[in-house]
Amino acid sequence: MKIAVLGTGMVGHALAGKLVSLGHEVTMGSRESGNPKGEAWAGQSGPNARAGSFAQAAAFSELIVNATPGTVSLAALAEAGTENLNGKVLLDVSNPLDSSGGFPPSLTVCNTDSIAETIQRSYPEVRVVKSLNTVSAPVMVDPGMLPGAHDIFMAGNDQGAKSIVSGLLQEFGWSPGHIRDLGGLDAARGMEMWLPLWLRIFIQQPQGKMFNIGIISE
Ligand SMILES: NC(=O)c1ccc[n+]([C@@H]2O[C@H](COP(=O)([O-])OP(=O)(O)OC[C@H]3O[C@@H](n4cnc5c(N)ncnc54)[C@H](OP(=O)(O)O)[C@@H]3O)[C@@H](O)[C@H]2O)c1
Repeated sequence: MKIAVLGTGMVGHALAGKLVSLGHEVTMGSRESGNPKGEAWAGQSGPNARAGSFAQAAAFSELIVNATPGTVSLAALAEAGTENLNGKVLLDVSNPLDSSGGFPPSLTVCNTDSIAETIQRSYPEVRVVKSLNTVSAPVMVDPGMLPGAHDIFMAGNDQGAKSIVSGLLQEFGWSPGHIRDLGGLDAARGMEMWLPLWLRIFIQQPQGKMFNIGIISE
């Protein structure tokens, strides 16, 4: 599949690298074509790896990953361009974390709304699916690095788009029984509101910085 990964950070690198290793054609997008991080990644990742502006990446792709901070995701998507986004699946892995007031960061949107829904409202013809925002980048693409059974969540209004994302998650190593479809995109609220608790767990435990939720039921 032709995939745009919008974001040159840790998450963009983890996802773009894994997708290329799986045989997908990936363009890493950033604010300007020629971005050194994007160019360096493309230069060392083989013939299926490219770098470009957000717009170039989105135009090239069938599926788009939003791997930008939730606070700037609308700006990044505006640069990508409505015409390059419409009709496509957008996997939103972002979190709306605002660190301007210090640590821990606060959520810029929560409870009655989410960044995923904000994106969906701004781009009604884009097929937004929320997933992977609840785990660290290494775990996103290698769930087997953690022992035992654990879960990944998914939310979205378009069942076909969720099937496509579920397929990608399975390529990453997530087993179908642990890909939890929570329903419509409003379920992204809970997925994003996990972050304050995630951050507290992260700072509270000195070891084991990679962890995840495993649902245990009778
Ligand atoms: N880190 C994790 O393990 C983890 C886990 C789960 C979810 N997440 C979420 O995944 C997302 C990506 O995280 P990250 O740490 O990889 O990202 P990051 O390094 O904080 O963000 C990098 C990207 O944001 C773009 N950007 C910065 N300011 C911008 C602006 N004003 N307008 C448009 N684009 C702008 C940058 O563009 P340039 O390339 O042009 O500089 C770059 O591509 C975040 O929402 C984060 O909360 C992270």
